[in-house]
Amino acid sequence: MTPRTIPTARLGANGPEVGVQGLGCMGMSFAYGPTDADASRAALERALELGVTLYDTADAYGAGENEKFLSPFFRAHRDEVVIATKFGLAIPPEDPSRRIIRNDAPYIREAVEASLRRLDVDVIDLYYMHRRELTVPIEDTVGVMAELVREGKVKQLGLSEVTAAELRAAQEVHPIAAVQSEWSLFSRDIEAQVVPAARELGVTLVPYSPLGRGFLTGSFADAATDLTADDFRRQQPRYHGENAAANAALLEPVRAVAEAHGATPGQIALAWVQQRGAVHGLPVVPIPGTRRPGRVEENTAATAIVLSDEELALLEPIAAKVAGDRYADMRFASAGRE
Ligand SMILES: NC(=O)c1ccc[n+]([C@@H]2O[C@H](COP(=O)([O-])OP(=O)(O)OC[C@H]3O[C@@H](n4cnc5c(N)ncnc54)[C@H](OP(=O)(O)O)[C@@H]3O)[C@@H](O)[C@H]2O)c1
Repeated sequence: MTPRTIPTARLGANGPEVGVQGLGCMGMSFAYGPTDADASRAALERALELGVTLYDTADAYGAGENEKFLSPFFRAHRDEVVIATKFGLAIPPEDPSRRIIRNDAPYIREAVEASLRRLDVDVIDLYYMHRRELTVPIEDTVGVMAELVREGKVKQLGLSEVTAAELRAAQEVHPIAAVQSEWSLFSRDIEAQVVPAARELGVTLVPYSPLGRGFLTGSFADAATDLTADDFRRQQPRYHGENAAANAALLEPVRAVAEAHGATPGQIALAWVQQRGAVHGLPVVPIPGTRRPGRVEENTAATAIVLSDEELALLEPIAAKVAGDRYADMRFASAGRE
């Protein structure tokens, strides 16, 4: 049977056409508890069959392990996939469990070579600055990234967790194809300034953690009790203790809308973020992360769900009521810099 494939959207003004939902690959190697290589490989293949072409990784995910894990899949399907990776969260040699933000030119040049080596490809399709180092002017960082484009190491440029002002300054140096930031029913900071700027500049929005790191699916209720000790979500204030209990109650309208569609809450969360594209007038390509082929099917099927105005109104108040920050260390979020 030929699988039904998802619609497409363009990355930036001159970027490639990609499936309107991408695949977040971080959890295949890192951050979210025990990994399963066989299931992850099956998830990658199933995604491609269903029209998912944008695959998201970063050098920081598992200290390069995620890029290495994805390499055989990318090489087997090089002409069908759009590879997105990132630099900017460096691992200090004295403490591999920590991340420091680096945007200096020597670091970027080292990072791109290391990513190309691990991925074992000639060119990266979309290269993101993962986080902004505030002491380095964004124009300088994007200037180095633009050199990588001219040298043929990178095709398109992206920025993660930037402010609207940073995006505008970057675009003066080189066209930016995509901004990747957290965007979900629980995290809507970027709608005030970043999204309007992206629309004006012709930049595609790539929402990360569109399922609220899984919380919006109901797959865990309290990170402290439901997830393994090494799971990154145990450090995130909104997913444990009193905050998690308060936030779980916010899922009630998501469940009600899901029931009306014969869908899952996760599918409603994905349909909602996808539909922000129509609301704000710009292309939106969410990258839900999963390591399971069945969930890839469930998540891609959400691209066919259209929420009514009444349903959107029911979901509208949720984000403003969420208890707890996105990160324990909010220097990792752009919102405080607006
Ligand atoms: N730029 C940045 O700073 C940044 C930050 C975070 C993430 N990212 C990128 O964005 C991608 C997605 O974000 P994310 O992984 O943090 O969060 P997410 O997509 O909101 O949620 C992922 C979690 O949800 C679970 N899940 C996925 N589909 C599900 C379904 N249908 N039903 C129940 N549970 C489901 C996954 O578990 P299973 O894997 O077990 O299915 C995983 O634990 C990442 O993979 C990464 O590439 C970027």
